[in-house]
Amino acid sequence: MKITVIGTGYVGLVSGACLAEVGNDVLCLDLDQEKIRVLETGGIPIYEPGLQDMVQRNVAAGRLHFTTDVARAVQHGTLQFIAVGTPPDEDGSADMQYVLAAARNIGRLMTDYKVVVNKSTVPVGTADKVHAAIADELRQRGAQTPYAVVSNPEFLKEGAAVEDFMRPDRIIVGASDERAILLMRALYAPFQRNRDRLVVTDARSAELTKYAANAMLATRISFMNELANLAEKLGADIEMVRQGMGSDPRIGYHFLYPGCGYGGSCFPKDVKALIKTAAADAGLNLKVLTAVEDANAAQKHVLGHKIKQRLGEDLSGRHFAVWGLAFKPNTDDMREAPSLELLADLLAAGATVTAYDPVAMSEAQRVLGDEPRIRYAQTPNEALEGADALVIVTEWKEFRSPDFELLKARLKQPLIVDGRNLYDPAWVRSQGFDYLAIGR
Ligand code: UDX
Repeated sequence: MKITVIGTGYVGLVSGACLAEVGNDVLCLDLDQEKIRVLETGGIPIYEPGLQDMVQRNVAAGRLHFTTDVARAVQHGTLQFIAVGTPPDEDGSADMQYVLAAARNIGRLMTDYKVVVNKSTVPVGTADKVHAAIADELRQRGAQTPYAVVSNPEFLKEGAAVEDFMRPDRIIVGASDERAILLMRALYAPFQRNRDRLVVTDARSAELTKYAANAMLATRISFMNELANLAEKLGADIEMVRQGMGSDPRIGYHFLYPGCGYGGSCFPKDVKALIKTAAADAGLNLKVLTAVEDANAAQKHVLGHKIKQRLGEDLSGRHFAVWGLAFKPNTDDMREAPSLELLADLLAAGATVTAYDPVAMSEAQRVLGDEPRIRYAQTPNEALEGADALVIVTEWKEFRSPDFELLKARLKQPLIVDGRNLYDPAWVRSQGFDYLAIGR
């Protein structure tokens, strides 16, 4: 199939590469010339396991191309995937200008049947707006070219995006046009294992499904974080509580880990946007989600609080080793990362920091700018030198089994503040550490 993917950000690039991988002829469009140049020369602008190999393989096979030429892109694909950004604007609602601009370009330039597939996470009702924008462009030039609009939200997890695309749990297709539905079924057939995972809904339900799934997951996390804070006060261990809860199949073990708050490009943005949409478009006050958001904002300060409780409010002259900066492992993404709040809390209290992250340090430097009070170490152990405590913010695998003897030798005092519950408290304490974890 001939496919155009508009936007070579995270979602667009992963979708484009995976669609090419199964044999499609994919052209990716981006207006950012530098990005396209990097992609054409085999580089990729983001860190995502497996993606670079896949891009290179498909470029070499002649199935994956990149362009900045809008007319060529619209001409190319029967399927036009819109995967451009929908950044939150000042009030938290998703900014739709890039999605609608892409739709207008398609309407302005198309000469044959197109299926316009919305991949970007967009407010409910966007498929209708995309439809109207294309209709308007066609009307303006007196054309009557047929087209359909499909809402096909992505459920990719950063760090596992390629795997998630290649082996999806479900594929949601929000459409009413029979021809488009048939095409979508054919498109996704190679990604179905042993059973049909494609769910056809109307466009609005598909759009809401994406927000609903992310909001539910965020709710589980905030719930567990509040429970962890409670367990700590009551002398219970949230890790035991988690296992007891998870054994109920209605609850399940997945996504039940308390920590120092959720971050990333999706949960914070989608929770905010859903609250906003409900209020603005439906006059509804989503009380549960508002609480989820508040709880998460508070949780991002939990590590800072614990440190100050132990060492005092004034941290001037104190130095901290921070392990993990990315909002979660296997990504260099710093968006809404809990590490940002922790660093701000530490600096505001007068401390200095040496941080280590396996892949996110240059991104962190870019985000944090020139900050002399934050240094970066080349190895986890190098970060420890002379620190008053080790603070763990992201659960990278390489932090899971450290050399505690070495830790003790390098730290000024044996204090570990762990925002991800990586270790058995009894074990770490038996190694002579003061160990502050979450909810235990
Ligand atoms: C999420 C959804 O999982 C994905 O389906 C959707 O398409 C996009 O948003 P992502 O943001 O990549 O994906 O990360 P995810 O692995 O879901 O983690 C989100 C945040 O929740 C991270 O900050 C993570 O540390 C936190 N988290 C996750 C917890 O605190 N506890 C958990 O049990 C799980």
